Amino acid sequence: ALPHDLAGRRVLVTAGGTREPLDPVRYLGNRSSGRQGWALALVAAARGAAVTLVAANVEEVAPPGVTVVPVGDARELSAAVDSVLDDPAGPVDAVVMAAAVADFRPAAAAEVKIKKLPGGAPPVVELVENPDILAGIAHRTERRPAVVVGFAAETGAATGSRTGATAADPLPDATDASDPVMASVLEYARQKLARKGCDLLVVNRVDQGRAFGAPDNAAVLLAPARADHRADHGADAAQVVAEVPLGPKTVLAAAV
Ligand code: C5P
Repeated sequence: ALPHDLAGRRVLVTAGGTREPLDPVRYLGNRSSGRQGWALALVAAARGAAVTLVAANVEEVAPPGVTVVPVGDARELSAAVDSVLDDPAGPVDAVVMAAAVADFRPAAAAEVKIKKLPGGAPPVVELVENPDILAGIAHRTERRPAVVVGFAAETGAATGSRTGATAADPLPDATDASDPVMASVLEYARQKLARKGCDLLVVNRVDQGRAFGAPDNAAVLLAPARADHRADHGADAAQVVAEVPLGPKTVLAAAV
């Protein structure tokens, strides 16, 4: 049996991937299945927390004991998150933003289906930026949860990554900092942690078929440096607080 160490805590998890409408039948989306967020909600509830899962296009049925709020696009996800954070029932203790939120959305969704006309030019889609929900939560002055967790799904630098590798080569360890791709992933992640202002960043590699849609995941957990470490390494210093090897998403959830 799991410890009931989260009894009395309120936890908000977001999962899945947003779909940003292009017209009534089409969207810009991503490959997130929602399984990692689902596992986080499941584990938090099993450990006694009152859990709300804001689920963007997640197929799975609700984990036992979890309240699910389904959403479609980034703006709906943002509104759902705000209403949970501002719920008069009580403040949220921890928020885990596992959802893959689109950074950009089409500037305007067409009211009717975009048509292909004979000889017509391909349509051009103008994008505008979505609000950064995670950064918004972390920088709240009122009812900021004590623990704000973000995810960073990274593919590493575009150049030099496993050039010449074939499908038969084993994948390098997704948490091995001496691997050059992982080193560049961690460098991006340190900057992201500082920029977003969160208390923990779950860094996972999503290249080469990793993570998205898979039952397993591996990650490095990065946190702002403790004061003593910061003195030596500067204000934006970050520390690896855990390396979770490839395993079930529930195991990574428990580590978070
Ligand atoms: O910047 P990037 O999209 O890589 O950041 C990923 C993290 O930020 C995830 O935790 C995701 O849920 C969150 N995010 C967000 N709002 C956005 C984009 C990402 O909250 N518009």
